[in-house]
Amino acid sequence: MESGSHPVDGSDPIPYAAQSITESDIEFVKKALTSPSITRGKWVESFESAIATECGAPHAIAVSNGTVALYLAMLALGAGPHTHAICPAVTFLATANAFLMCGSRLHYADVDPKSALIDTGKLEAQISGIRESHPHANIMLASVSFAGDARHLPEIDRICKKYGVIHIEDAAHSLGGTYKNLSSETFMSGSCKHSDAAILSFHPAKHITTGEGGMILVRDSAIARQVRRLRNHGFLGDDPRPAELEEPWAYCQIELGINAWMTDIQAALGLSQLSRLHSNLNRRRQLAAWYAERLAARPFSDSICVLPYDIHHAYHLALIQWKSSALRRLAYEHLHRKGIRVQIHYVPLYRQPLQRQRAVSCAPLPGAESYYAGCMSLPLYPSISDAAFDRVMDSLHDFCARQTSG
Ligand SMILES: Cc1ncc(COP(=O)(O)O)c(C=O)c1O
Repeated sequence: MESGSHPVDGSDPIPYAAQSITESDIEFVKKALTSPSITRGKWVESFESAIATECGAPHAIAVSNGTVALYLAMLALGAGPHTHAICPAVTFLATANAFLMCGSRLHYADVDPKSALIDTGKLEAQISGIRESHPHANIMLASVSFAGDARHLPEIDRICKKYGVIHIEDAAHSLGGTYKNLSSETFMSGSCKHSDAAILSFHPAKHITTGEGGMILVRDSAIARQVRRLRNHGFLGDDPRPAELEEPWAYCQIELGINAWMTDIQAALGLSQLSRLHSNLNRRRQLAAWYAERLAARPFSDSICVLPYDIHHAYHLALIQWKSSALRRLAYEHLHRKGIRVQIHYVPLYRQPLQRQRAVSCAPLPGAESYYAGCMSLPLYPSISDAAFDRVMDSLHDFCARQTSG
């Protein structure tokens, strides 16, 4: 029996996301707890190499959460106060906050109103404008493979290469997702084949969890070393030392770093969870296919738009679009009254008071406004029972049928 499973029937709340913890996860954690080291040890190393293999990335460095992963990846790639940083206007606060923590000048990119992926046509115009006014500036982009959808990476990579922009894929939503290039070759989200670095989050709502946790994936070995140093207070045991630090116990700090380690207890949980990634992805894809098929018919289709099912998508979120913001508000209230805790991902960043103080421009963006007006995330997680899924569909049906008839 998995804990984190959700109700078969009755009126228990149904969340939009939930972790699944098995007996095998608990056994792995017990083993880590009785290992000689419970942090900075072998479990972290094994989890890093398992994630690097899974994503097809050359290097993986485990850290304490996805936000810290973004922050350290940005620092290692040179983000600072001189950097013009770009992130989508629709993403979790973390993507923008990490750039702000680096002191960078933040610009928001507009998004596609259906998928919330960066609108690549607008992005090229935005980047070429920044490049024209700042020919030698350091420009860095954090794209987001939103909800599990990484299909825009080859086009983003083309734009970034053309204008000399450093690119980090925020793959917090897309572990296990794939995408194709124009020659129909398939790549993994997080592989760094179309980015300089990528990050993952292991928050309990994500594909696999370590409680809290994150991973930085990078292509370049010198950058990987830099990330490891930043994770460890700015020193590594084998960095060259000056003569005054030659004692065997001495360490030599050459950077300003922090303690961003993941513990071995968390890494053991992550390793055990990773063994179920593909079976869980299959379940996520099955649920997403059901939503796409059923919601395309009346009465749902009178009120809701849903993107067609896509086998490459990692389905962290089951996104739908209501046909108006008023309808979305009524539906949100109706579903919450029924105990179905749908979520809204996300309020555009430029609406946040703090972001308004810090970003270069906080003018509303048309794609982000249109996406935000109708977006909603329906419950989607591997341990949802068929009965709970039916309860979601029945509640949506009641609501949509009432809209159609009245
Ligand atoms: C797109 C995105 N990026 C980054 C993060 C940050 O991850 P964490 O919660 O592990 O810090 C999240 C978390 O939800 C996210 O959704």
